[in-house]
This record gives sequence, C-alpha cells and structure tokens, in this order.
Amino acid sequence: LTARPDIQPGRLEIERHPKPTAPPPSKSLVFGHTFTDHMLCIPWDILNGWGAPRIQPYGPLPLEPSCTVLHYAQTVFEGMKAYRDDSGRVTLFRPDMNMKRMNNSAARIALPNFDGDALLELIKKLVQVDKHWIPQEAGHSLYIRPTLIGTQKFIGVAPPSEALLFVICSPVGPYYPAGFKPVSLYATTEYIRAAPGGTGAFKLGVNYAPGVMPQKLAAKKGYQQNLWLHGPDHLLTEVGTMNMFVVLKKSGGGLELVTPSLDGMILPGVTRDSVLAIAREHASGKKKIPGLADKLTVSERPISMKEILTASKKGALVDLFGSGTAAVISTVDRIGYLGEDVHIPLEKDGMGPVSRPIWKELVGRQVGSIDHEWSVEV
Ligand code: COI
Repeated sequence: LTARPDIQPGRLEIERHPKPTAPPPSKSLVFGHTFTDHMLCIPWDILNGWGAPRIQPYGPLPLEPSCTVLHYAQTVFEGMKAYRDDSGRVTLFRPDMNMKRMNNSAARIALPNFDGDALLELIKKLVQVDKHWIPQEAGHSLYIRPTLIGTQKFIGVAPPSEALLFVICSPVGPYYPAGFKPVSLYATTEYIRAAPGGTGAFKLGVNYAPGVMPQKLAAKKGYQQNLWLHGPDHLLTEVGTMNMFVVLKKSGGGLELVTPSLDGMILPGVTRDSVLAIAREHASGKKKIPGLADKLTVSERPISMKEILTASKKGALVDLFGSGTAAVISTVDRIGYLGEDVHIPLEKDGMGPVSRPIWKELVGRQVGSIDHEWSVEV
C-alpha cells in the first residue's frame, strides 16, 4: 500500500467571490446566521487521499441524496474563533486543540484523518481572505466552523469511501439571544445527552439534534437550557451545548471550583481546558488572577444534584457557569430540579466570584490584551 496524500496547502487554489458583500453592522448580528464571502473545501476519497484544497465563494454543496452524511449523520465539526485587534492583528485561540479534537472525532465515526497543521495553515488563509469580516467590538469575533462529512453515494452503514472537509466562517456576537446575561437551566430527568461508551466525548453532529426537543420542553417550562444529568445519582454532566463548572464554599474556608471529569461522556472543551488551566495557575501561584479568591481548589470530579441541593441550603453554592467556544462563559442563575428552583446568588453584573475573574483573564488571552501563547497570529 502506498501512502495516500494528506492535506496539501501547497496545492491551494483560490477563486474570489465575483460579488463580495459588505459585512453587516456588528449590532445586527444574530449568532450563526451570517456567513462570510468564502469557504474552504477539501475533498477526500479512499483511492486518492486528500485532493486539492480550494477557497471558493460561500455557496451550496453538490451532494447526492443517497450520501452517507444525510442518512447516518456521518459528520464531525469544530468551533473556533478569530479575533482582530485595533491594529488589525488577527489571531486564533488555541487552534491546535481544535485540530486534535477534530481528528479524534473523525476517528470515532470512521471518517478520514488528516494533518492538523496543514488544515490549520489553510484555515489561516481563509481567515486572511475574509479578515474584514471579523467584528472588532468587545464580545464579537469570527466563528469558524470546520466540518467533515461522508459524501459517498451509498445507503449502507460503513466507513465512507468519499468525504468532504469544508470550513465556513460567521461573524458573531453573543451566543444567546438575551445577550451576555445569566441563563436558567432545567435539570431534565427524562432525557440524557450521553452515556458510557457512547459518543458524548466527541464533537459529532449526532450529539446535538437529540438535544433540541428537550430544550424546547425546557423553554416551555420557562428555562433557557437543559442541565444534562447522568445515572441514578443525578450527576451533573453538561449544560445545553456547554461544559459546566460549579463553585462551592468550603467549610474550612476558601472555594472549590468543580467540573465533571472527562469520563467519556464529557466533551473535552477548549474553553473548559482553558478555565481549568487559568484556575490552576492561580491556585499554584504561577499566575495570580486579579479578583480571584486566594484559597482556591480546582477539582475534576463527579458532582451530584444532591450535593448541589445541600450546598445551596448551606449557602455554599456561590457560582455556576457553562463554558464553550460559542458562549465563552455563561453564568447560571437558577436550576429547576424535581419541581423546585435552586437559586445561585450572582452579583449585580450577573457574574459570580470565580466566573468574573476567570472570564476576564480568558477573554484577555483570547483577544490579545493579555499576552499569551494561546493566542496564535494568523
Ligand atoms: C461551541 O461552543 O462552539 C459549540 O460548538 C456549540 C455549538 C452548538 C454552537
């Protein structure tokens, strides 16, 4: 067997949009509705490997109605963001993590793997072509959506012999329609997001569609997002489409920041990893984060609804938030659980004692106002 070609940035062809559009004012942006002028497409097939990459006008894809993605959800995706500062410098945030995770997700559903560095080089080219689309206002960015789908004309269930990797870009502001405000959660005991041995730890399209109906039920009950639980102990796993963190006051003084461990059901979020890293740098004294409690313990461990209720009764539940690329950090002010509401006593700005300082540090590292190796120039 001769090795089939990997992604080759050297073969890139660029077809400019014949009628480029003017980006809309940032204030009018609704998350995920607006797309830039160009997209990147890279075809793959089992005989020839990865073909010539192409940056071309954003537009419809030619797909066979029989192709595997349309029937069996053979699709993986990533979410990453580009920022542009006042001097015009364009950066990505920890893009190597997205490339690694996309390859892990692809392997889980037998889609082809690729050289992450080569794809990243091409994503940078795409971002350069459309860089005037990156909004500069605080809280805004260019959301980048790399996607890999099975395109073989075949209705059997098997690894596809043809695939397409494409990348589209969307200028965005806040993820939630309410803007940067705390959200309420409905802890569902009827539906689950993931199960042991399943696909919850991978960024697959198939993990998201089943969450839409429970989310509608939550909305009907007056909550914005679902809190996904697991098992008879009602362990907390994720919120909506985000990882989650809980902050507890410890009886001996100090705070504990808790997030469920990566046990195969939790998506290994880039923002999750960044929050943990920032908190651990603070706790170890490597880099003290202004405003964050001196005594901070950072735990990746199971946490149950029983523990949440007990902490809430004792006044020890002090902060709770979701983390994700799209929403960055989203605080939670209320959880509906078995007919009762648990309230999280956030402060006037809608944030808590841990979410606020960590969010500030994280955003600083993302937009480049805090110098950090996580920010990679395009
Ligand atoms: C992200 O946070 O980037 C995600 O992928 C969630 C998505 C469903 C918008």
